[in-house]
Amino acid sequence: MSKEEKTMDKLIQELKNMKEKAYQGGGEDKIKAQHSKGKLTARERLALLFDEGTFNEIMSFATTRATEFGLDKMKMYGDGVVTGWGKVDGRTVFAYSQDFTELGGTLGEMHANKIARIYELALKVGAPVVGINDSGGARIQEGAVALEGYGQVFKMNVMASGVIPQITIMAGPAAGGAVYSPALTDFIIMIKGDAYYMFVTGPEITKVVLGEEVSFQDLGGAVIHATKSGVVHFLAENEQDAINIAKRLLSYLPSNNMEEPPFMDTGDPADRDVKDVEQIVPTDSAKPFDMKEIIYRIVDNGEFLEVHKHWAQNIVVGFARIAGNVVGIVANNSQYLGAAIDIDAADKAARFIRFCDAFNIPLISLVDTPGYIPGTDQEYKGIIRHGAKMLYAFAEATVPKITVIIRKSYGGAHIAMSIKSLGADLVYAWPTAEIAVTGPEGAVRILYRKEIQASSNPDEFIKQKIAEYRKLFANPYWAAEKGLIDDVIEPKDTRRIIASALEMLRNKREYRYPKKHGNIPL
Ligand code: HXC
Repeated sequence: MSKEEKTMDKLIQELKNMKEKAYQGGGEDKIKAQHSKGKLTARERLALLFDEGTFNEIMSFATTRATEFGLDKMKMYGDGVVTGWGKVDGRTVFAYSQDFTELGGTLGEMHANKIARIYELALKVGAPVVGINDSGGARIQEGAVALEGYGQVFKMNVMASGVIPQITIMAGPAAGGAVYSPALTDFIIMIKGDAYYMFVTGPEITKVVLGEEVSFQDLGGAVIHATKSGVVHFLAENEQDAINIAKRLLSYLPSNNMEEPPFMDTGDPADRDVKDVEQIVPTDSAKPFDMKEIIYRIVDNGEFLEVHKHWAQNIVVGFARIAGNVVGIVANNSQYLGAAIDIDAADKAARFIRFCDAFNIPLISLVDTPGYIPGTDQEYKGIIRHGAKMLYAFAEATVPKITVIIRKSYGGAHIAMSIKSLGADLVYAWPTAEIAVTGPEGAVRILYRKEIQASSNPDEFIKQKIAEYRKLFANPYWAAEKGLIDDVIEPKDTRRIIASALEMLRNKREYRYPKKHGNIPL
């Protein structure tokens, strides 16, 4: 071996040693501690996410410049986060994965720079970012510099919003402002279990300030966020499940806002009858039914990725394919609150509609709602502001919009589920549809107030007027005569008709007045 070759060998060996050190993160003990909590390491998680052998790590030698509080002696390669890109089902995806074994995965200047760098590259090439969060939050030793770092990450989240899909997996703690980067992304997947939680203020401070005693899980566990706060879109049983959900979600999304969502030949014929679908809807419109049963039967192979499955269940949103094309479905579910729209349902739907519009995903509305929810609770909390979001989101959306009125469609909620004047491209109705300003009972009491007061038998009078009202409006034909419905269709034809409508609307172009941005009610 020549002298130079020997030197090169040494250099390469040195590089290998350094990489080995970087790959060990915080070292064996910390990795053991991580595993003992049932958590995987940052690199183990990335290995599950990416197609085998495709992950390219960058900035693995980066480390903090801070020296305060002995940080100069605690410096670690990677600075608590692993960053890079790879392939997920053959498509380029960027990722950062916080490494709790290094300085508790805390965010300092370099850690933030690494995440920002991933975002810069992802934005340049138009590829999604998956962020795996497992961190003690702002690195206390780096003081205001750490906070500045969060500002940098938040800004990148916002710059990327509507340009590339952003998915967060909550795989550890997130306290204080650290929760806001996940909140600024499109979807949060959170893992069930004691090791995973997120809150703005933890149990200790909650107790001091409010005297309220609450556990970590009851304050900010995955179940709470998936069912009560609506912060979490997908509840994962474990780490592997969280990664699987992220991959499944990515399979419906375009890589960026300039692309169409990925077509997939599902083998499910576009023109098949939707067998027995009419059996799902009770003809007695007071009886609830599970709208998801209709969705499963209409979409390709019954595959529906429901978003916010456990929150605001009176409205159902999620992704599916029809004849191979990705669609976003917004549907009412009368099994919850009789499918009336409340604040949470409106927020849930509006955010989903805006995501679909940003990423060229056509919207299908399946309608069965008696209206917005009445009462002081909702009025005081601002159902006017929140309900307006759905109207705004549908009116703003330029993607193909197809509405199928399955059963009830009353009042403001009729409009909020997307009608022609709001911008729906096509509106269909089943023969079971009922379309009116308000339900029969309320309508009669308002229209015939004086007559009811004067009547010798008000109950009988009301009954008779309700029957007349129902005869007029408890069907789709009155609205169809006025040209408000494009066609009344047999339930079994729903899939075929949606598939042809999507095909026809494929090249739809719709423009809006130029503006800096709209001002959606919040
Ligand atoms: C520096 C931190 C840290 C932090 C944890 N560590 N949080 N170091 N700054 N914020 C270190 C610990 O000292 C420890 O170091 C290692 O990370 C692992 O932490 P442990 O406490 O041993 O782990 P665990 O018992 O699992 O507890 C995890 C934890 C706890 C619940 C996250 O560490 C904790 O409460 N940390 C503080 C959380 C916090 O208040 N962060 C700031 C939030 S405010 P060694 O050397 O022992 O391994 C914020 C502002 C953002 O983030 C503002 C944006 C707008």
